[in-house]
Amino acid sequence: MRLEIENLHINADEKEIVKGVSLKIGEGELHVLMGPNGSGKSTLAKAVMGHPLLSVTSGDIRIDGKSIRNARPDERARLGLFLEFQNPAEIEGLGIISFLNTARGSLGNSMHFRDFMKEVKERSAGLALKEELIGRSLNHGFSGGEKKKVEVLQMAVLKPKIAILDEPDSGLDVDSVRVIAENINRLRKETSMGILLITHYSRILNYMEPGFIHVMKDGRIVKEGGRELIKEIEERGYSE
Ligand SMILES: Nc1ncnc2c1ncn2[C@@H]1O[C@H](COP(=O)(O)OP(=O)(O)O)[C@@H](O)[C@H]1O
Ligand SMILES: [Mg+2]
Repeated sequence: MRLEIENLHINADEKEIVKGVSLKIGEGELHVLMGPNGSGKSTLAKAVMGHPLLSVTSGDIRIDGKSIRNARPDERARLGLFLEFQNPAEIEGLGIISFLNTARGSLGNSMHFRDFMKEVKERSAGLALKEELIGRSLNHGFSGGEKKKVEVLQMAVLKPKIAILDEPDSGLDVDSVRVIAENINRLRKETSMGILLITHYSRILNYMEPGFIHVMKDGRIVKEGGRELIKEIEERGYSE
């Protein structure tokens, strides 16, 4: 599957936040979107998933050439799009298992419940998530790191075709960053998932092999290139 974002302009509360961004993410590709706080990365991610409070004022979002600009978020999810939130919601009373089970059902995964549970447990173990945790309400009272791991667990179970990961490394300790990176890498090996990884730290990239780096500043992509850009940013920051 191929995701194309073309000259996208996005408003939040009448204010233009994203000012003409174009990106193409093909099958199996790992793209990294970097940039300082407030540059519009999360706004872009949420709008691509169809966030109801953001308005796309011009440009287009296409999946395999077909516009999804007017599609609802659940329709986008059914097409194979997935968003990991920078700040995952806590939903008391919604069990993680029940949530994952409903989600995979809506996406057409008809695996037997027993096999599904086996996969959930195996993936949780791979993420070093305590087994007791997956029996609890979604993110309720979870630490920042646990929430991020649960997002990756969702991705692992739902196996989207294109995943947008909004700072999967933020607020994580060093070991957890590595674990998250390894789990993302494993999914990349197992599937032909295309990934847009948003981050402003380069640490997670020490464990990954991104093919494309895009730098966003004040609503625009200001620089693009390969791995060499990471080093440049590390040494000189975003100001140049
Ligand atoms: N609903 C909103 N109303 C007004 N401004 C917003 C809204 N949502 C985001 N913004 C602003 O848009 C800018 C970009 O935010 P964001 O996309 O979260 O940046 P990033 O993820 O790159 O740190 C910020 O200045 C933020 O305050
Ligand atoms: Mg953000």
